Amino acid sequence: VKTILVTRRLPPSWVVSLEDAGHMVIDGGAEGLGHRQLAALAPEVDAVVSVLTDQVDSDVLEAGAAGRLRVVANIAVGYDNIDIGAAQRLGITVCNTPGVLDGATADIAMFLILACCRLTGDAETALRRGQWHGWDITGFLGRDLEGTRLGLLGLGRIGRAVSRRAEVFGMRVFHHARRPTGTDGYVDSLDELLSVADVLSIHVPLSAQTRGMIAGGELHRMPRGGILVNTARGGIVDEDDLVDALEDGTLAAAGLDVFENEPRPNPRLLGSPHLVLLPHVGSATVETRRRMTELACRGTCEVLAGHRPFNAVV
Ligand code: DGY
Repeated sequence: VKTILVTRRLPPSWVVSLEDAGHMVIDGGAEGLGHRQLAALAPEVDAVVSVLTDQVDSDVLEAGAAGRLRVVANIAVGYDNIDIGAAQRLGITVCNTPGVLDGATADIAMFLILACCRLTGDAETALRRGQWHGWDITGFLGRDLEGTRLGLLGLGRIGRAVSRRAEVFGMRVFHHARRPTGTDGYVDSLDELLSVADVLSIHVPLSAQTRGMIAGGELHRMPRGGILVNTARGGIVDEDDLVDALEDGTLAAAGLDVFENEPRPNPRLLGSPHLVLLPHVGSATVETRRRMTELACRGTCEVLAGHRPFNAVV
């Protein structure tokens, strides 16, 4: 019997496959485990099922490797919370959850694109504050999605799902990725993408290469009055530069589902104009979160059974 630590209590039906496979499951309770507790438990278990707020760093992985830890399965497609280099060095498999949250995340990206194009955040705020003085022919004028150029930074599964949706709205979609994609709309430099992006939507993982990739210089290369949407990871965007760009009109609006410092975003963001903010809910639907959890559990069981699952990243 193998022991699996699920770092926080999850709906039992989502994780039932672990016990069905004959394993013993312990969980981190409703609040989840702190970093010290996780490092203390890691040597006692064969597998950890983590979430993206768990910091699975080299301390945790080394503690686990000193025991019998074989796999960490992150219930997320991103795995920047895990020290992949350490896992590789220690022979611990890491799994993620690709392909099951593309639609939900793309829906939230489209939501933010719509909210920014149509200034719905500003409009709702004015209404709630009693600042709506009646239908106004020149009030809250946004822009049509139809004909607006959308630049996708990254064309993985989520980027493609956004592209499909945006095309239905009549947007003209361009993308840039590290390698040519062979798909219509590919442009081969970030600068070229920025120069055509009325709306820039980010769909790359956070890594040493992408951290801070979108800063003031990049925002200024977009057509003036552009829109930035980020549903990937906060650290890809320089948040102070983003607020400056909103304040000086370089950008007309921005929509963020992710922040450099979660759950306490840069206070300048909270006071910034024309900014629609969501608390990292891209994948937050019942169906999607269930599928993500099931996929992480499946990867865990496969590794414990001696196989290499398709969702192993190292
Ligand atoms: C992920 O999966 O990486 C998202 O950020 C959480 O849904």
